[in-house]
Amino acid sequence: MPVIGFGTWQAKDGEEAYESVKAALRVGYRHIDTAEAYHNEESVGRAIRDSGIPREEIFVTTKLTNTHLTYEDAKQAIDASLKRLGLDYVDQYLIHWPNPINARTFYKKRNAEVYRAMEEAYFAGKIRSIGVSNFHPHHLKALLKTIKVKPATNQIYVSPSDTQPKVVAFNEKHNILTVAYSPLGTGRLLGLNELNQVGTKYNKRPAQVAIRWSLEHGYLPLPKSTNASRISENFDVFDFKLSKEDIKLINSLKGKAGKAPDPDHVIW
Ligand SMILES: NC(=O)c1ccc[n+]([C@@H]2O[C@H](COP(=O)([O-])OP(=O)(O)OC[C@H]3O[C@@H](n4cnc5c(N)ncnc54)[C@H](OP(=O)(O)O)[C@@H]3O)[C@@H](O)[C@H]2O)c1
Repeated sequence: MPVIGFGTWQAKDGEEAYESVKAALRVGYRHIDTAEAYHNEESVGRAIRDSGIPREEIFVTTKLTNTHLTYEDAKQAIDASLKRLGLDYVDQYLIHWPNPINARTFYKKRNAEVYRAMEEAYFAGKIRSIGVSNFHPHHLKALLKTIKVKPATNQIYVSPSDTQPKVVAFNEKHNILTVAYSPLGTGRLLGLNELNQVGTKYNKRPAQVAIRWSLEHGYLPLPKSTNASRISENFDVFDFKLSKEDIKLINSLKGKAGKAPDPDHVIW
């Protein structure tokens, strides 16, 4: 799984999503993160197919959205995502959210059911790996009781502003990779002076420092941009390393640029 993924949330379907994914693939990203809920799978898939890069070199992730609550729904949703993407398989398919608003009283049953459809698609070769997203330990504990194929990843909000230590520790204990979404705090981290201060030492920009912080913790960051030069900047992070003092300073940003959503209470 390529160690940086390209985020596409809020990249508008059509030219914006298409051109940004093309730009990302041109500069070297080989991992693209989309979702049914982003309403851009068609453009993302078209960019992947038009890129000229062999399909097997690109890692594509998409996600089951919250309106799908049953085994049958999930089965159809997987096929519909593949159709929109114009691909025969995805490299990873995630349950986007553990506790949808319309499943609050039966979310454990819902997750077990949709996961069963995902396992079937996995054995049929439509999904090369399975993961979850926004799962807290109590959601994972319930799910682990009913499944055959363990989730490979848990995609969660992780940034210096909120490191979600309990979720990360649970992931590590169960050998589930932490994929760090919003590694720039959806942009909110980037105005903080500490990131600038650290970046100046290495001739790097704040976003590059934040992405490096993620990599050095062993997370897999998913920076998003629709701007060609920022897309390129965010991938240019393999020629420097943060010191212990840098990490300490960055860790002091806790709470300064937002928090992870609470999946049991968000209205979605
Ligand atoms: N599973 C989930 O529930 C979930 C939730 C949220 C996100 N995600 C995934 O994680 C990805 C990233 O998270 P995110 O979209 O919240 O935000 P992010 O990557 O933390 O930040 C993106 C924001 O920062 C700006 N930006 C990007 N690079 C920059 C740079 N080098 N300099 C200055 N500004 C820069 C972008 O603007 P421009 O586009 O204008 O450059 C955008 O406003 C998403 O796209 C999605 O794939 C998943």
